[in-house]
Amino acid sequence: MHAQRNTTSHRNRPVLERDRETTARRLLVASARHSSDPDTELDWTAPFEDSKWYVAPELISLYKTPLWERMSEEQRMELSRHERASITCSGIWFEQILMHLLLRHLDGFPCTSDHVRYAYTEIADECRHSMMFGRLVRKLETPVYGAGPRDRAQGWLLKTLATSPAALAAALLVEELLDWLERKTAEDERVQPLVRNVIRIHIIEEARHVRYAREELRRQMRQATAAERAYVQFLTGQMARVVARTLISPSVYNAVGLDPRTAVKEARRCPHRQDVLHSAMKRLITFFEEVGVIHNPAARSLWYSSGLMPRPGARVKVGSSAAL
Ligand SMILES: [Fe+2]
Ligand SMILES: [Fe+2]
Repeated sequence: MHAQRNTTSHRNRPVLERDRETTARRLLVASARHSSDPDTELDWTAPFEDSKWYVAPELISLYKTPLWERMSEEQRMELSRHERASITCSGIWFEQILMHLLLRHLDGFPCTSDHVRYAYTEIADECRHSMMFGRLVRKLETPVYGAGPRDRAQGWLLKTLATSPAALAAALLVEELLDWLERKTAEDERVQPLVRNVIRIHIIEEARHVRYAREELRRQMRQATAAERAYVQFLTGQMARVVARTLISPSVYNAVGLDPRTAVKEARRCPHRQDVLHSAMKRLITFFEEVGVIHNPAARSLWYSSGLMPRPGARVKVGSSAAL
């Protein structure tokens, strides 16, 4: 962060600060109007409905794989419960990292600014989300899923080494991926009402987080040096791999009696799954290319290997699956 602010010329600084404060004030008004208390606003006592999914079938990692075809309906529904838990546990881990990065981002900004005031508001949102997610996982009665040791180590490195633009890019990566999946689920009546209500709260509050991060990232990338940009590109590509690996823990397959190695391989090779992930990231990748977060060939190859971005010349069929 400091590196970026140090590169800001004296002439541009007042304009940037004004712009930053205008965004923050707008988001503070939105936060005052639309903030929820999941503990009191959701019905945590209602039992789950037997006939409803926890993840819409088309968004389950194995949908349309050879394994899926051999699974019973009961096993598919059970997998949806475990995948919901895995996505939710990953969401909590991502939010913990984001809260840490947001606090680091604030170092050096005046505590009287609306930019800082809004960041505290966002951290408070994330605290409520993580508590809400934890409560959902407890109600799902699954194991607590989480990243493996290699990805945990990378998350720790990100928390420690990310510059401010890298932190904002990582935040967007997680928030926009989850947001796309959540918007596909919120109005889907085949999905458990409690899951949809949790998701609705998250969508509304995350929309302003995305706005904050996008606008600030655009400002900072404009001011960054070539070396700082290359660092952001590398770190974001690396995080794309971690996020893609962490979202669905291989242990969910164990939980429903499947071989995790086979299941991971089939999910990764499945054209439908690739369509889902590419569709989810399409809008963000366009933005990242525009502001210079995805630029050099090395960063691109990290993105390709994450499975979140289609390789050039690969069959691009984004959003074509009937349910997407
Ligand atoms: Fe959140
Ligand atoms: Fe957020």
